[in-house]
Amino acid sequence: MTIIHISAECYPIAKVGGLADVVGALPKYQNSSKISSKVIMPFYDNKFTQSNKFEKVYSDSILLGNDREDFSILTLVNNTLGFDIFFVDVPSLIFKDYVYSSDDTERFLAFQIAALDWMSTWKKLPDIIHCHDHHTGLTPFMLQESNKYEAFREVPNIFTIHNAQYQGWFSHEKVGLIPEFNFDNVGLLDWGGQINPLATAIKCAWSVTTVSPSYMEELKSAANGLESLLSSEASKCIGVLNGIDVTVWNPETDPFIETNYSSKNIIKGKSGNKKYLCDRFNLDYNKPLFAFIGRLVLEKGADLFPESFKTIIEDKNASILLLGSGSEDIQNPLTELLANNEGIYNAFIGYDEALSHNIYAGADFLLMPSRVEPCGLNQMYALRYGTIPIVRSIGGLKDTVKDISEKNGFGICHQEITVPSIVNAVNRAIELYTDQKKYKNIQKQIMALDHSWNNSAQTYINLYNSLKHPIND
Ligand code: ADP
Ligand code: GLC
Repeated sequence: MTIIHISAECYPIAKVGGLADVVGALPKYQNSSKISSKVIMPFYDNKFTQSNKFEKVYSDSILLGNDREDFSILTLVNNTLGFDIFFVDVPSLIFKDYVYSSDDTERFLAFQIAALDWMSTWKKLPDIIHCHDHHTGLTPFMLQESNKYEAFREVPNIFTIHNAQYQGWFSHEKVGLIPEFNFDNVGLLDWGGQINPLATAIKCAWSVTTVSPSYMEELKSAANGLESLLSSEASKCIGVLNGIDVTVWNPETDPFIETNYSSKNIIKGKSGNKKYLCDRFNLDYNKPLFAFIGRLVLEKGADLFPESFKTIIEDKNASILLLGSGSEDIQNPLTELLANNEGIYNAFIGYDEALSHNIYAGADFLLMPSRVEPCGLNQMYALRYGTIPIVRSIGGLKDTVKDISEKNGFGICHQEITVPSIVNAVNRAIELYTDQKKYKNIQKQIMALDHSWNNSAQTYINLYNSLKHPIND
């Protein structure tokens, strides 16, 4: 079986968030003697593309509205990713030093059209086309409706919603950018008077998945305007919990961290990494270290950090380290808080892959007070590195973290998204930290949890098979 993943991001080539981690891992876990899982992504101008070699495998031009754009398909020379990868290069449109910006409609449409045009030339079409997020949301529509892609009508496609907050809306005035289709079906593109690629994908894909079972349930009542659509399409929707790539995220071999360790030498390992962080960020090693890694946006509950941190800082029982960037109204107060709080709180505003690994390894607790969390990978990375997650019980966080008050519980969970509930959760963590025996037992317990992609990669294969060979009742 040949599976083609189409995505805007893929680790380690281009990463903005968890989408990259998923697309950089799932194909690796799907590949076997009988399955060949490959990725098609845009060719960006970034560190990875600047420092690697690529080979042209195909070139042609696409029609985007009235404009003809040249494109090439490139592949990676000396590929050690564990799966085949192909890049769509449309020099005039896609090849930019960013992944997302205000020109996404044209860029991702060009990407999808070039990818499908190229696949149309294959001797054998793929068995499954798996699209990810709204940047590839018009693919299921084009496969079903565009005259030029008629050959794909029998090829099952599946669409994964990584985050329903972002839908890729654009005006009907741009409908001419989409390759010619039967205009009687233009309604498939519409949701609320705009072209909505996410809604279109939910309508047209053979199967729709999202990245945790709880998020799938939550979407029926909170999907940024798509609630009724998701309810009416519920029969083809399923939540499949993401996994993590345990070869990349392995504290025993992780090249980014200061001290490698396993559960056998966890005390030495974690203390070496904590010491590195405390030295680098001038924090008190003797206090429990609370960290946050992520986008500084409302979804992540990051707007509540300035007030929550003020209380935690006043109590003087903890050290706090934050890594992230995002909206200025959240970022600025977090930066202002740095003044006068040296030694207790520090923040690295920006994106730093190596530092994130060091924080998973060196922190005692990881904060994730998300308002919305379709899956969340950070908590699973934290668990693998023996760092106890403090999460709001929502979406994938609810599906992966069990509160210490429950039997075999190992995390700290809270229900509310308020400053007092975050502070209260931190105080519960500090109490746990003072009971060092219990705290260390939990660290060992969480490092042994298996969140690798093994199970879910197979669930996807089973889903593909059910689409290829439906059981007629
Ligand atoms: P989301 O995709 O919603 O941002 P996830 O939890 O699925 O959240 O994945 C976030 C990924 O991005 C993780 O691999 C996390 O370590 C990484 N990450 C987020 N912010 C940063 C940052 N500022 N620096 C380095 N890595 C980051
Ligand atoms: C999205 C979600 C996040 C999820 C990731 C990977 O970015 O916000 O919760 O883990 O996709 O599926």
